[in-house]
Amino acid sequence: MTAYLAIETSCDETAAAIVADGRKILSSEIVSQIDIHQKFGGVVPEIAARKHLETVNFIVDLAMQKASIKPEDLAGIAYTAGPGLVGTLLTGMSLAKTLAWLWELPLIAVDHLQAHIFANFIDTDLEPPFIALLVSGGHTQIIHFASYTEIKIIGETRDDAAGEAYDKVARLLGLGYPGGPIIDKLAAEGNDKAFNFPEGQVSGFDFSFSGLKTAVLRQTEKLNKPWPIEDLAASFQKAVTSVLVRKTIEAANEFKATKIVLAGGVAANRELREKLLELSPCPVYFPPISLCTDNAAMVAAAAYFVSKPVGLDATVYSRS
Ligand code: KG4
Ligand code: ZN
Repeated sequence: MTAYLAIETSCDETAAAIVADGRKILSSEIVSQIDIHQKFGGVVPEIAARKHLETVNFIVDLAMQKASIKPEDLAGIAYTAGPGLVGTLLTGMSLAKTLAWLWELPLIAVDHLQAHIFANFIDTDLEPPFIALLVSGGHTQIIHFASYTEIKIIGETRDDAAGEAYDKVARLLGLGYPGGPIIDKLAAEGNDKAFNFPEGQVSGFDFSFSGLKTAVLRQTEKLNKPWPIEDLAASFQKAVTSVLVRKTIEAANEFKATKIVLAGGVAANRELREKLLELSPCPVYFPPISLCTDNAAMVAAAAYFVSKPVGLDATVYSRS
């Protein structure tokens, strides 16, 4: 058994996990800071970093205890090196370095975006090649995963990420943070044909969501209160999911993919999953909801399959 301890602190979840052979979770612990940031309408980086510092040692201890594993049984210590908030990343990296030094284990730097994709490897037999749609709060990318070493971004957003669009639209509708789950729930009760919101017009496999956010804003300016929140949510969600699904399927066809993999926080979206399952020409993989948003199990899985050992002078990289 090759087991990695992984630490994830890229944004507002403090998480630690131990995963065997990249597929089997021995423990996965998460403390979310959502309730702390909710009153600000989004993540406050300074507060997030301080909260990680308060929690991260405890969460790692808990993950080790729950997995009933001793340091000498670990193959390495993995940490999220980025992208993310610099201050929060530094807290996880510092603990990972300390433990790697203390326990004389390899230190492994993991890319957070790749980690989201490896959430799909847990409890499955998934292998490349595949086309991945990565939709998180900070990124929206279509990736061609030809093999473990040939990984190419073939499309990405030119402005807002899909999750960011959800969060911004939720804020302008006065719905709170994070916007994705709230809009997803309201959309189920609404009429998605009530408003005709535009899909961003960009070529190839790229996306644009900032025009859509402005279209929702302009629409609300024309409406009397109370706004038909459910219809606005359903029409907005339809526009986001339609373009994501259409371009992912186009990419799968172009690259003759035999599998489509959905990843990132927005992969929890009900309509996105349903549409992809309905329209995809090939099998679709997506993680359980608990592994869509930030967690450390996905970081341990990526450490096993693709990530590289680094020296104790390694650092972090911030959101690009
Ligand atoms: O991957 P993630 O946990 O963090 C980043 O790496 O950014 O993604 C968080 C994003 C947030 O923007 C949140 O609104 C969105 O995922 N999200 C959803 C849903 N659940 C979370 N978006 C749409 N539908 C959902 N059900
Ligand atoms: Zn994430």
